[in-house]
Amino acid sequence: MSTYRLMIMGPPGAGKGTQAKLLVDHFGFAHLATGDILRAEVKGGTDLGKQAKAFMDRGDLVPDSLINAMIGAHIQKSLAKGFLLDGFPRTVPQAEAIDDYLSEHEIPIDAIFNIQVDQDLVVDRIVNRITCVGCGAAFHAVSNPPKEEGICDHCGGKTQRRADDEESKIRNRLNEYNTKTQPVVDYYRGKTGLVQDVDGQRAIEAVQEELRAKIGSIAD
Ligand code: AP5
Repeated sequence: MSTYRLMIMGPPGAGKGTQAKLLVDHFGFAHLATGDILRAEVKGGTDLGKQAKAFMDRGDLVPDSLINAMIGAHIQKSLAKGFLLDGFPRTVPQAEAIDDYLSEHEIPIDAIFNIQVDQDLVVDRIVNRITCVGCGAAFHAVSNPPKEEGICDHCGGKTQRRADDEESKIRNRLNEYNTKTQPVVDYYRGKTGLVQDVDGQRAIEAVQEELRAKIGSIAD
């Protein structure tokens, strides 16, 4: 079986986490979601979690120095089965740092998926989002609710609303995306031929089918 090294990008609410979890179930690579990693650090009360919490609660990006210091260890642990980076890199300095790290360790990226959605749609998606406390899986209160209220379909964990999913915070997260993360997509478009745009406004299953086909077509 192939070992894939992938990135998934897109604004808050694009469906990155939803698609990533389905891809992981299918292909078996590791899901390296910096948002999930940070939320686990906050929950665990670690030094990193304490430093990150205020930024996350406001919907601001966490400083590059904290993120860059933590990601290498997660990548190293995932090398044998491959990985999908979700929500990282999110600034051009993060992209430059990870590119240096990957090239130093001879870890080439196979593809970068850029999920595109209208930003009014993502506000609706996020205010209706229900998230699993255990595995981070996302549901939508109207279009994709858990089969049993309050219980995650994937791991049986408890579901709740995320602290940063209020409308005012979402607007700030979108602003952070537009000013700091969209330039990362442009950076990779200019630098590599790896960026593949995917229309994220379709049904979850249709987006998933396209992503699986694109990954399946990556040469060994
Ligand atoms: P993070 O957890 O990465 O949040 P995000 O990028 O804002 O993305 P979301 O998780 O909100 O959205 P998603 O695209 O995964 O959508 P989802 O699948 O859930 O980051 C949180 C915070 O951590 C940041 O604000 C920052 O503070 C910090 N952080 C993280 N990484 C960082 C970094 N590298 N540098 C600095 N700071 C960092 O879907 C959303 C909803 O839509 C769900 O309800 C879902 O069911 C529904 N949905 C999904 N797809 C569809 C579809 N096709 N049709 C209908 N509904 C759909």
